[in-house]
Amino acid sequence: MKEELRKQIEAARTAINAAERQHDLMQLKSQFLGKKSDLNGFMMRLKELPASERPAFGKIVNEAKQQLEELINSRLLKVKESEYAAVLQAEHLDLTMPGKRNIRGALHPITQTWREIEDLFIRLGFQVADGPDIEDEYHNFDALNTPADHPARDLSDTFYIEGDVLLRTHTSPVQIRTMEKFAPPIKIICPGRTYRNDNDATHSPCFHQVEALVVDEGINIADLRDMLNYFARELFGPEIAVRIRPHFFPFTEPSAEMDMVCPKCMGSGCSLCKDTGWLELGGAGIVDPNVFEYVGIDSEKYTGYAFGLGIDRIAMLRFGITDMRLLFNNDLRFLRQFK
Ligand code: PHE
Repeated sequence: MKEELRKQIEAARTAINAAERQHDLMQLKSQFLGKKSDLNGFMMRLKELPASERPAFGKIVNEAKQQLEELINSRLLKVKESEYAAVLQAEHLDLTMPGKRNIRGALHPITQTWREIEDLFIRLGFQVADGPDIEDEYHNFDALNTPADHPARDLSDTFYIEGDVLLRTHTSPVQIRTMEKFAPPIKIICPGRTYRNDNDATHSPCFHQVEALVVDEGINIADLRDMLNYFARELFGPEIAVRIRPHFFPFTEPSAEMDMVCPKCMGSGCSLCKDTGWLELGGAGIVDPNVFEYVGIDSEKYTGYAFGLGIDRIAMLRFGITDMRLLFNNDLRFLRQFK
């Protein structure tokens, strides 16, 4: 039996020393030292020995158990250490490596201008309205008092999609959509994309406008003028004056085009303003009573003004961009300048 025990201990030692993983060691522990282990079995078999030998043999078994336990524990420490070292090795960080920089994006100059204009009007109590880019003739033209034979309805200006469905040529249809839904007082702006069949240094087939519509009792052209002045000064500085010139739009009467003093030369004339001292900003006017008819607003009681400004134009002026097409090419070398 002693010989058996010796072999058993020897086998346990070899197995423990060969174990490479914590998990394996735990298994060996229960295999060799657990309740059902052979070593424990020897204790059960003590009675097979003569009574005189029992205490000595029991002692040997107990010592063997203790030694094996110690061996397992020290092996366990080693295994843990080497496992940890392997993890460290795998996750090794070279602190001398150059870092990775996060590339930060920036807002497009049009988006910056768009948001600035929105903020400006929101401060004045305007609400921001929205409408579809894909419109119908009714909202884009008819309800804006633009008869079927008006040149603006010519195929060469308007992108038609199918039948009477088209890409809106201006943000003015949002005036109609707003007045269809809400009764006066109305005070909205609508920034958005607009589309015309035009393409050169100062015109892009897709461009941006911001529409404004104010409808209430007693609104007149002085209110319009005031607002335009305020707008231009907020964006371009206190010295900037705005002028309005008589013009024609089917949906406003009287109608005007508005110019602002060229911010580059302050009116003395330069290449930007083609020596006129003025730059065109957009159209404006007093809402034509015919338009109120279309949306069921009482034109005896209410009056209103509207204007539509080119956002891209304003962005170009603010950032000194001379070719509108740069705004739409998405060339990163160009866009990075506006961080
Ligand atoms: N919709 C007109 C245009 O695109 C601008 C405008 C808006 C004129 C509102 C008058 C009133 O040219």
